[in-house]
Amino acid sequence: MRIFNTDTMSTAGEANWTREGLQHLVTTKLAGRLFIVVSNREPYIHTSAGGEIQCLVPASGLTVALDPVMRSCGGVWIAHGSGNADRDVVDEKGHVSVPPDEPSYTLRRVWLTKEEEEGYYLGFSNQALWPLCHIAYTPPNFDESHWNTYRRVNQLFAGAVLDEVGDKQAIVFIQDYHLALLSRLIKAKNARVITAQFWHIPWPNPEAFRICPWGEEILDGLLGNNILGFHIGYHCENFLETVRRMLEVKIDYERSAVSRGGETTLVRSFPISVDFDRIAIDARRQEVVKEIEQIRRRWRLSDEIIGIGIDRIDYTKGIPHRFRALDKLFTKYPEYQKRLVFFQLGEPSRVHIKKYKELNAEIDDLVEEINWKYESDNWRPIIYVREHLPPTALLGFQRLADFCIVSSLHDGMNLVAKEFVSSRVDNDGVLILSRFTGAARELTEALLVNPYAIDDFAETIKRAIEMPRGERQERMRKLRQIVRQNNIYRWAGGILSELADLKL
Ligand code: F6P
Repeated sequence: MRIFNTDTMSTAGEANWTREGLQHLVTTKLAGRLFIVVSNREPYIHTSAGGEIQCLVPASGLTVALDPVMRSCGGVWIAHGSGNADRDVVDEKGHVSVPPDEPSYTLRRVWLTKEEEEGYYLGFSNQALWPLCHIAYTPPNFDESHWNTYRRVNQLFAGAVLDEVGDKQAIVFIQDYHLALLSRLIKAKNARVITAQFWHIPWPNPEAFRICPWGEEILDGLLGNNILGFHIGYHCENFLETVRRMLEVKIDYERSAVSRGGETTLVRSFPISVDFDRIAIDARRQEVVKEIEQIRRRWRLSDEIIGIGIDRIDYTKGIPHRFRALDKLFTKYPEYQKRLVFFQLGEPSRVHIKKYKELNAEIDDLVEEINWKYESDNWRPIIYVREHLPPTALLGFQRLADFCIVSSLHDGMNLVAKEFVSSRVDNDGVLILSRFTGAARELTEALLVNPYAIDDFAETIKRAIEMPRGERQERMRKLRQIVRQNNIYRWAGGILSELADLKL
């Protein structure tokens, strides 16, 4: 099958996309239209602790990537208000201006009951669609009451979008698998609205997808969009093949377009990225230098080799696999005992789901077991920091590390890999990256691993540690060049240019 692939990955020599370039595109080509982003996760969460309200940035690649886009485009971002102080800072429409230190767009919060959150977010989104789309050998749980709640919550989001749109001309940019029915629901009430949706996780092959009892309705919902985006061409191919088998559609493979009932959806790949320049500026800040000193003091580090892993604690991230590889390394190469410290930084996530509880227990057990096996005097091989860390602290660890491991069993893209590269303003450090991430298609100068192959994985860690400085720097320079060019503004610019070209 041939896919017409408007991949937005640039080649060397092409001009960089910038925040200003994206702003120019919005003001010239999309002028006069209200720009609305919709996602489940909100970009800023207000929480109250000890009577004080704090504003947190969640551990979500999606929101961290989209926030700079919204800062430059302006508009309204509609998302679930999940913080315990979220209601305290909004007006009667659920609006609050964000970011707090530089208000540039409006966040509209949608309120969900506990029961809705359970059925829609913990239930259908994360116990059915999440394992269905990731090949991580966790079976999906299809529960009809979860599905009914999912549909109802998609209706709720549609109501919020339609209320914001009113009689304006609008472009609605929908995010992810939580809102698969949204575009269809919006258009049923207002056919003038233009929608694009980006699916941030992999799309599986048709054999895997067809077990979903409500698969046809999900496909129909997604085909309500004018444009549907995935990270890589392979996911587009899987999607086209899935609709071909499951629905009555016409597919134009040259244009990668699906037509059904007089409507057409363009299916395209747009590899998401990060705000390279912003991260590089932040990584040079004095606060980050201080943070590195603090980390050294707090963990009594001297000249150890430092490895890091930064993840939302999820069974798709291959965290036990990387610990087993470290275990293998210490057994096979005992000379690294007392010389290497691996920091696992992890924010717990979706903790009310059984599979995640089990994973947390498995990780705790493994850390305990490996540390018990090798620890001596003042040295422990794995330090597990299981908490939400602010961006400055994460940058401190990223700058301090000799190597960073991203070992996802399956991942749409993985932005930790791109953040690590962006933070290395010293052109140093080695990225060990799972072949099963979307990022591995672009970041070919990383050391690519199969996280299931534990012996090879251990050898790759050894190779990272022993890599000569010249080679490390050469690889990191190339990686930085790739992320610098294929940044978040290129991703957003690619999608918005396609929308502008629709001439609707
Ligand atoms: O990658 C899929 C995704 O849902 C992203 O949209 C988001 O960045 C991440 O997982 C975090 O998930 P959650 O919003 O459930 O914490």
